Amino acid sequence: MNRRIFIVTLPILARVLISERPVAAITQDLEYLQALERAQRDRPPTLTSSGRIAPASEPGTPLVIHGRVFRPDGVTAARDMIVFAYHTDATGLYNAPSAGPHSWRLRGWVKTDADGRFEFTTIRPAPYPNRRTAAHVHFTVEGPGVPRQPAGLTFEGDPLLTDADREESAKAGRFGGVRPVERRGGIEHVSVDIRIARS
Ligand SMILES: [Fe+2]
Repeated sequence: MNRRIFIVTLPILARVLISERPVAAITQDLEYLQALERAQRDRPPTLTSSGRIAPASEPGTPLVIHGRVFRPDGVTAARDMIVFAYHTDATGLYNAPSAGPHSWRLRGWVKTDADGRFEFTTIRPAPYPNRRTAAHVHFTVEGPGVPRQPAGLTFEGDPLLTDADREESAKAGRFGGVRPVERRGGIEHVSVDIRIARS
């Protein structure tokens, strides 16, 4: 385990020591964090504030994600934040089953501009097959002085959203993860505001 992986996995190791979570679940967490770290090795050396997740040839409904990242005060724009995003394809899969767990075919990176803004062009992800989890997009955000942290969005109107999902999102106000979808000219648009955590 190199130093960087150790740093990102340190909170998980602490949980191993203090929690009574099943070892299998904690092992999964560790594997996930290591997969996230591995994925960053493929990050392009130069990033702009707009990019793609799915290639233009990917089957599915075109989707544009309009995002903005804020400092923990929720007001100050966070510039130069690297946003990593990944999601399932139009069949609900992250990758071919043979690729193994935590392998994300549709993924992309951007860096926020001076106003904290970013944009991803992609396709609308589908929910996991044979599961009751709403379709979603995963993000991580990191940058100068900001350790990698997770964020995400789901799509308002998704029948798989639960009351708990909606309540949690409503509590977070404009930083809630359940986002309205606008359809214009055959392209769906969602906007998401992400607030960097205080710790
Ligand atoms: Fe997921």
